[in-house]
Amino acid sequence: MSTVEYHLEELAIAKSSTDARKALPPLPPCFASILDIGCGAGQTLLACNLHHDVLACGIDIDEEAVAFGHAQLDRERDGHLNLACAVGEALPFADASFEVVISRVAVPYMHIPTALAEISRVLTPGGHLWLTLHPYQMVFEFLGRALKAGNPKSTIYFCYALLNGVAFHLTGKQWRFPLNRKRCESFQTTAAMTRALRQAGFAQVEMEQNPHRFAIKAIKA
Ligand SMILES: C[S@@+](CC[C@H](N)C(=O)[O-])C[C@H]1O[C@@H](n2cnc3c(N)ncnc32)[C@H](O)[C@@H]1O
Repeated sequence: MSTVEYHLEELAIAKSSTDARKALPPLPPCFASILDIGCGAGQTLLACNLHHDVLACGIDIDEEAVAFGHAQLDRERDGHLNLACAVGEALPFADASFEVVISRVAVPYMHIPTALAEISRVLTPGGHLWLTLHPYQMVFEFLGRALKAGNPKSTIYFCYALLNGVAFHLTGKQWRFPLNRKRCESFQTTAAMTRALRQAGFAQVEMEQNPHRFAIKAIKA
């Protein structure tokens, strides 16, 4: 499946009223600006049916997804979907630019302490954060599949992601993949995320974790 196909499928899921995989952010009743980090083609922002007055921005590292969002999905919001190609660890926005930041299953692919510090920087005081992460079993599953398929590259990568998750849990630190420094991946535990969020200046941290879903809400202190 191409990345564009993936984002279109996610848009269909997000717009569906019956799909159990649907996970949209619980938005505050009134806000003027929202940023989606790792937004793909902007599917989550679109599915939120935001009022046209709300400034809706999204960033993603994937140029193709952002270009597709601009060319196709932006029409659904009459040109009010502002997407840019950027990384979550260096957000191209001024301090306190957004009242709400959301990110659906994108933070696991980032250097989390740096990404959370950036999110905290661009949020207004009292601003809302909503994140979803993968269930921690996922990295184990992918490592198992790589071993079963006898794929050495994937095996090395998922061993790295597993060790990075253990390091994040025990020390709060993470490392980029030594064989490709652009990549960073880990699994996340509630303990590691609670500590990282507090260190980045968040309070009122609430988590929901089960084998299918790991969602976090927090407020910038
Ligand atoms: C699993 S997809 C989720 C996309 C979308 N948020 C959704 O829920 O459908 C993860 C997204 O994170 C993006 N991503 C990965 N690493 C990133 C980084 N360091 N900075 C920004 N985006 C990143 C990927 O390009 C991809 O679009």
